[in-house]
Amino acid sequence: MTQKLLLAAALLAAACCAHALTPATILERAQAIQGWLVEQRRTLHACPEPGFQEKATHDHITRFLDSHNIPYKTGLAQTGIVATIGSGRPVVALRTDMDALPIHEPQGAEYRSKNEGWMHACGHDGHMAMALGAARLLAEAARAGELPAGSVKIVFQPAEEGGAGGDIMIQEGALDGVDAAFAMHVMPHLPSGSLHSRGGTIMAGALSFRVTVAGRGGHAAMPHLNVDPVVAAAGLMSALQTIVSRETSPLGSGVLSITMLRAGDAYNVIPDEVMFGGTIRGLTHEHLLYMKRRIEEMSPAVAAAYGCNATVDWRLDEQPYYPPTVNDEKAAAFAMQAGASLLGAEQVATAEPLMTGEDFAFFCRKVPCALLFLGIRNETAGAVHALHSPKFTLDEGVLYKGAAVHATLATEYLRANAVSARDEL
Ligand SMILES: *[C@@H]1O[C@H](CO)[C@@H](O)[C@H](O)[C@H]1NC(C)=O
Ligand SMILES: *[C@@H]1O[C@H](CO)[C@@H](O)[C@H](O)[C@H]1NC(C)=O
Repeated sequence: MTQKLLLAAALLAAACCAHALTPATILERAQAIQGWLVEQRRTLHACPEPGFQEKATHDHITRFLDSHNIPYKTGLAQTGIVATIGSGRPVVALRTDMDALPIHEPQGAEYRSKNEGWMHACGHDGHMAMALGAARLLAEAARAGELPAGSVKIVFQPAEEGGAGGDIMIQEGALDGVDAAFAMHVMPHLPSGSLHSRGGTIMAGALSFRVTVAGRGGHAAMPHLNVDPVVAAAGLMSALQTIVSRETSPLGSGVLSITMLRAGDAYNVIPDEVMFGGTIRGLTHEHLLYMKRRIEEMSPAVAAAYGCNATVDWRLDEQPYYPPTVNDEKAAAFAMQAGASLLGAEQVATAEPLMTGEDFAFFCRKVPCALLFLGIRNETAGAVHALHSPKFTLDEGVLYKGAAVHATLATEYLRANAVSARDEL
């Protein structure tokens, strides 16, 4: 018992006398490595890779971790990495995504994509640079004995753009022992350097679908001898639009967008079948399930009215279901407060939810989480184009702020959730 008390006293002394790592110190140190952060981001920008194939990206990250003596586990969801700084409880995770998009990057920057047809058009290169920056700041603080007791796990996840790489990493243990997790997404519609979040749902759930309408093809001049799937598909596409506009509450949020359409190839041939596809989005799981059920009911019924058949395929292998991203109320309030202490209260605001999907949703189903939006809109820097646009431009000026936000969330979380010496014994 006496020994335990002595140990407790020693632990308390160690906790009280380490240098306090304040948000202001973190911001100053992050600013000092801004040039390095830009280099990291540009190196990663030049090698955009598809989900689960982020090999060069993976190697760049592990080289950095090796050179900073940061231990890590690799091979989760193929190319995913979990790095650990510090030790023991509590454990807080910071997550970044790694994959790029099948978009042709126009000529321009000298650090333009070297993988023709692929582009970091969703800012994941910036997210990774910020995470590397936080890793560097936190590892240096840990070596100087400035990091509060506990561990920070930095999760680099593959295949955010549709492959649910985050879900696979979680199944493979990426969140085991983790108490809370945070992630950030750059947003070109929000002013550069501002930080936005909210408790509750912040992003929508998403499902992709394909409908095949089968008729009987033949000569376009003799439609009465055939069964035309083109007119049937047109009727069905219009009918599906009534699910959101006529069947669900105008106060609920749902989206049904048809984005692909393939029919025949000749002016004078009625094709055998037509395929169209798209996505549905909803802020609740129930809303999505409703839209899903109605697509399944309407498709064969409307097709039958035209003498055709229709089948619906949810493409779950290719495009897994992404549930809505639901921030924990306390984690979001904590993150916004920590953000305000770093960037100033005037830079922090409540986020409007977005109808985009995000596989950080899987993290939020497992542990208390908060997803934050970091504004990058800056007309001077040309950062005005939408995510997923070939013109997407990152205001690199925010990189150090993002790195500092990550590092602050981690240190403040460890401090606020310190496991008392008595709990440890
Ligand atoms: C629709 O399916 C039924 C049952 O399989 C089949 O008999 C019919 O020929 C199909 N119609 C078309 C236009 O493909
Ligand atoms: C916008 O970008 C310009 C040029 O890079 C920079 O000087 C300015 O500080 C940025 N504005 C904000 C709000 O970050």
